[in-house]
Amino acid sequence: MAVTRSGSDEHWSGRAAFVLAAIGSAVGIGNLVRFPYQAGENGGGAFVIVYILAVFAIGLPVLMAELFIGRRGGGTPVAAIRRLAKAEGASTAWALMGWIGIFASFLIVTFYSVISGWLLYYAWSLLGDIAGNIAEMGLAGIAQPAFAGDSEDSITSRFPELLANPGRQVLFHGLFIGLATFIVSRGVKGGIEKAATWLMPVFFFLLVALSVTSLIIGDAASALDFLFRPKFDALASQFMNGEILVNAVGQAFFSLSLGSALMITYGIYLERDQNIPAAATTVASADTAVALISGLAIFPIVFAFNLEPAGGLGLIFGPLLLAFNQMPFGALFGLAFFIMAVFAALTSAISLFEVPAAWAKGDIDLDAATHARRRTIGSVIIGLLIFVIGVFHALSQVPDGGSLSTWQPFGQMPVLGNKTLLDAADALTGSIMLPLGGFLAAVFAGYAVSESSSREELGFKHEKSYRRWRFLIRYVCPFFVGLILVWGVIIAPLLAAANGN
Ligand code: TRP
Repeated sequence: MAVTRSGSDEHWSGRAAFVLAAIGSAVGIGNLVRFPYQAGENGGGAFVIVYILAVFAIGLPVLMAELFIGRRGGGTPVAAIRRLAKAEGASTAWALMGWIGIFASFLIVTFYSVISGWLLYYAWSLLGDIAGNIAEMGLAGIAQPAFAGDSEDSITSRFPELLANPGRQVLFHGLFIGLATFIVSRGVKGGIEKAATWLMPVFFFLLVALSVTSLIIGDAASALDFLFRPKFDALASQFMNGEILVNAVGQAFFSLSLGSALMITYGIYLERDQNIPAAATTVASADTAVALISGLAIFPIVFAFNLEPAGGLGLIFGPLLLAFNQMPFGALFGLAFFIMAVFAALTSAISLFEVPAAWAKGDIDLDAATHARRRTIGSVIIGLLIFVIGVFHALSQVPDGGSLSTWQPFGQMPVLGNKTLLDAADALTGSIMLPLGGFLAAVFAGYAVSESSSREELGFKHEKSYRRWRFLIRYVCPFFVGLILVWGVIIAPLLAAANGN
């Protein structure tokens, strides 16, 4: 067999390190914001059930597939696929999937870093707020609400003011991506793994502390109702037009970091004695648990203060801040929340950054010293590129920011059109590139790779489990992921056009 047994000179130091890094990648802004919002929009508890099914029947098999492709191929995300395709007698054109992944990861991190910069700015502001209170009234200052004494208007205008301030956006985006560049340049063990093993435990601690506090002081009943009571009327109507399914599968992909060659890349660093199905199941379960728990941290507070569980990022940067302004210890609670969000975002951003960095590092024909040099230089160049493109994303959010805020890179096109640069990049990756990458990964693993190779590489304990994986990856995953693509790119725009918007 032509496939190398040791596909990289860098490896995770063990199972725990890998699992933490993969959870670090999966857990991010998608769990803290996108999941609760999607659940709310799609019939609450009903969506949660469909989502959990999507994670385990569609996301999990693809996660296992990406990890084994990376480990069996080795080298870089592109070289891994090409080498495995060659060994299996399949077309080396499959390597295109690696290129799509590198480009998608790069594009996502350019705007992910800008949004993370906003989170960092909020953490910084709350830190300043607490420091001010302590300077003024001693330790008792810790008990103050966030931005005590500020009017409701001045609280809710903080977000539009941030967007209107390009210098501030660029500064915090720059700090964030600078930190990510430093971590990635230090490599798998010394950088990515170290960051995950320090940041993720703090993240889990803050998440649990915040959700318990929130359930006690907030409106737990309304939050539980909002998140977990299946609203079957909503479910029925949305099921009919397929929307709930498309949203659930899309959210599962985004949340598990699939379709962007990221898990292929993390698989490259996985030692052969690690069991992929067991690790992948842990990652998928933890990611889902974090999504559910973060809903329990956010919504009790939102409902207790009669705020709108409004959509998307607006919730975190607006209503949530208003709640922190009305509760004792609000500044501290808010600071903990935004630190938690920054940590989650950082471990996700470095994983996205690692995909192009792994490519820059070069394939297995190079020696370790060359790899190290290319990683350092590559990280700096990629970091600079992310910074520069991110500046354009930031400027595209400035109201009246001149031509950049009105520029719609895809014009009036369906799906991608009528959007600022940042939102267009989000739609291009989320609605098209990630589902396409996931679809290709499923077909490659299920059809191009032979049954004996995937069975050996996955190492399921029972043949029955392997057969179930193979059925899901060959039939269920391509069908549903193909459905998202067809839905997102063809049907939804047609429906929108028919409805006259
Ligand atoms: N999963 C992360 C989140 O939930 C985001 C993310 C990181 C991601 N890497 C990715 C999404 C790769 C898609 C593809 O926020």
